[in-house]
Amino acid sequence: MSEMMKAKVGIIGGGPSGLLLSQLLDLKGIDNVVLEKHTRNHVLGRIRAGVLEHGFADLMREAQCGARMDAEGELHTGFFINDNGTLHRIDLAGHTGGNSVMVYGQTELTRDLYEARDRMGGRIIHEAQDVAIHGADSDAPALTWRKGDETFRLACEFVIGADGFHGVSRKSIPREVLTEYEKVYPFGWLGVLSRTRPVSPELIYSRTPRGFSLCSLRSQVLSRYYIQVPLSDSVEDWPDEAFWEELKRRLPDEVAGRLETGPSIEKSIAPLRSFVAEPMRWGRLFLAGDAAHIVPPTGARGLNSAASDIHYLYHALCDHYLEGDDRGLETYSDRALARVWKAQRFSWWMTMMLHEFPDHPAYDRRLQQVELDYLLSSDAAQASLAENYVGLPF
Ligand code: APR
Ligand code: PHB
Repeated sequence: MSEMMKAKVGIIGGGPSGLLLSQLLDLKGIDNVVLEKHTRNHVLGRIRAGVLEHGFADLMREAQCGARMDAEGELHTGFFINDNGTLHRIDLAGHTGGNSVMVYGQTELTRDLYEARDRMGGRIIHEAQDVAIHGADSDAPALTWRKGDETFRLACEFVIGADGFHGVSRKSIPREVLTEYEKVYPFGWLGVLSRTRPVSPELIYSRTPRGFSLCSLRSQVLSRYYIQVPLSDSVEDWPDEAFWEELKRRLPDEVAGRLETGPSIEKSIAPLRSFVAEPMRWGRLFLAGDAAHIVPPTGARGLNSAASDIHYLYHALCDHYLEGDDRGLETYSDRALARVWKAQRFSWWMTMMLHEFPDHPAYDRRLQQVELDYLLSSDAAQASLAENYVGLPF
């Protein structure tokens, strides 16, 4: 027996992209259903990035999900770059007419979105197995899935593929329609979350001969640190003591001296890669977020690029349903991709400038150093970095 449901918009994936779109559409009276493969606790167990562009923070407020972010998140008006022992501050606000970024963890943001959907009685179906898309290139698409022994079918007008890199949506688009671009870096980031006071009030991105490191934070009692490691390393190779020792060696002495260490409460290795799939639309299926693109974490663009897709999609669907205007839907893929590629460029540039590339020839190493020297000596170069880091206009 199969149960039949109906909604205007069917959203695959209950990560930040899917939940934010669901909430924004619901506030405009556009009914939708979210299908999520895992349990809510599983989704909330993932530790991800934590730097939000100011435009994304505004979108969270528009979604009526900004209260805890504004109370507990931290506005950062700058960050540091450590060039092999010397700290330089990048003044984000000074270079962007007063803009800043919001430091607030993706896990907390996702929790706020779930709570908002609960308050509004949003339809979110967890543990939806074998989700399949039917008739995406027709006028009457549908989604089917299984939960336990029962099968379900949702008739909808649009399907949003917000199911992350490993989801089913992108794979449902015929191969001859899609072009995929990929770049894989020869290292990963080993990340540690610890209940310790952050070593610096603002983030520190470090370039050292031993490799990259990053000091970040979730709050004044929760720190997030990363070090560049070879892809052949595993978490077992890095007991806490070894991690802290290596991090200290990749920080200026004065910073290392005040680093508070403690047991890790999460430790994982993430490979660095860039990926874009084009176009982001096939018929009535629209891709958003990690389903369509991935960036290395160096420029903190991943979650922000997902939010910019949702910004365009939200306005396109509102124009369709509330104004009878389809131009936003027609131009979604081109507009989203134009911004996505700028985020790709920025993340690539930050990654190439700050990491150690063991196989690079001497010439490339000198160029890498002069790229950083130029940045740290030029107001114009810092203004460009700041403009990208706080978020390009939508
Ligand atoms: N059916 C239903 N849901 C699925 C399926 C499927 N076949 N496959 C994956 N999902 C779910 C995942 O369980 C996950 O909860 O889709 C969700 C996708 O969420 P994310 O991977 O977090 O992707 P997205 O919502 O686009 O979030 C933006 O930017 O760079 C990143 O860290 C950042 O995760 C963040 C992302
Ligand atoms: C994080 O806090 O996890 C973080 C911050 C900035 C980055 C990447 C990750 O560029």
